[in-house]
Amino acid sequence: MSVPAPEIRILPSAEAAVPLLLDELRRTVTRFERPLVSFATGGTFTAMLRALVREFTVGKPGTIFGREFSATHLDEYAGFDPTRDGGMVHELTTACPPLSAMLAAERFLPVPHVEDAAAIGRHAERLRAAGGVKLQFLGIGRNGHIAFNEPGTDLDGGFHATDLAEATRRDARARFAPAEPPRRAITSGVGTILGAERLVLCAFGSAKAPAIEAMLRGDVSPACPASAVRRHADVLVLLDAAAAAGITDESVAP
Ligand code: F6R
Repeated sequence: MSVPAPEIRILPSAEAAVPLLLDELRRTVTRFERPLVSFATGGTFTAMLRALVREFTVGKPGTIFGREFSATHLDEYAGFDPTRDGGMVHELTTACPPLSAMLAAERFLPVPHVEDAAAIGRHAERLRAAGGVKLQFLGIGRNGHIAFNEPGTDLDGGFHATDLAEATRRDARARFAPAEPPRRAITSGVGTILGAERLVLCAFGSAKAPAIEAMLRGDVSPACPASAVRRHADVLVLLDAAAAAGITDESVAP
C-alpha cells in the first residue's frame, strides 16, 4: 500500500525550526486529551527544548500551552541513570527543567538505563497504556540512524538494547570527553517509532546531507534506518539548506 511522501520544508536556518516545532506541540496537546509526546535528544533539539521551558504552566507538572500531556523519549545510554551527566534523561531535564518535575510526578516516562528485558518490556507497556506516542520528534545520525537504530537494524523492531556504531560513538565524543563514549544503549525500535501518530524529523548542517539524501532518495532499507519513515503516512521533515543539499530539486517546496 502506498503512503503519502513526507512533507519536506527547507528553512533559512536551524533556529527557524523552533517556532514550527512548538506549533507541532501546541497542535498535539490541543487535539488530543493528555497525549504522549516523545522527544529526541542531541544538538538538533536543544534550542527547541530551551524555548519550550517558557510554555510550561508554573506549578502544574505536565502542562504546556495550558494543556496536559505526558512525555517520553527515544533512547538512553546503558548505565546512565537520570542523574548521570551525558545521559539522555539528564540532557532533557537540564535543557528543559520542567521535565524534572514531570519525572518526579511520573508524567515523564524515562527509557530504562538497564539492559533488562523485563524493564524494557514494562517501558513499552507503559507507553501503550499512555495511549501510544502521538507526536514523535526525531533527529538523524550521519550514518542514517534514528534513535539508536544503527544501519542493519530490524525495521519492524521494538524497544531493545543495542551496540552503538563506531560512527555514532565518534560523534558522541565531545559529550563524554575525557571519558570514552558508551558502547551500548537501550533504544526505541523502528517499528515502535513508526507506531507514533505523527513524526517530525529535523536535520541541520552539511554533515547530515548524505543521510538525508539516503533517507529520502535511496531505497527503504536497513542500510539507512531513517528511510523507514517513508512507510509512515504523516511525516514532516524540517531541514536547513545545508542538510537538504542532496535532495534539492523541483519536488521539494522551498
Ligand atoms: C537521540 C537520538 C539520535 C539523534 C541523532 C542526531 O535521542 O535518537 O538518533 O537524534 O544522533 O543527533 P544530533 O541531534 O546531536 O545531531
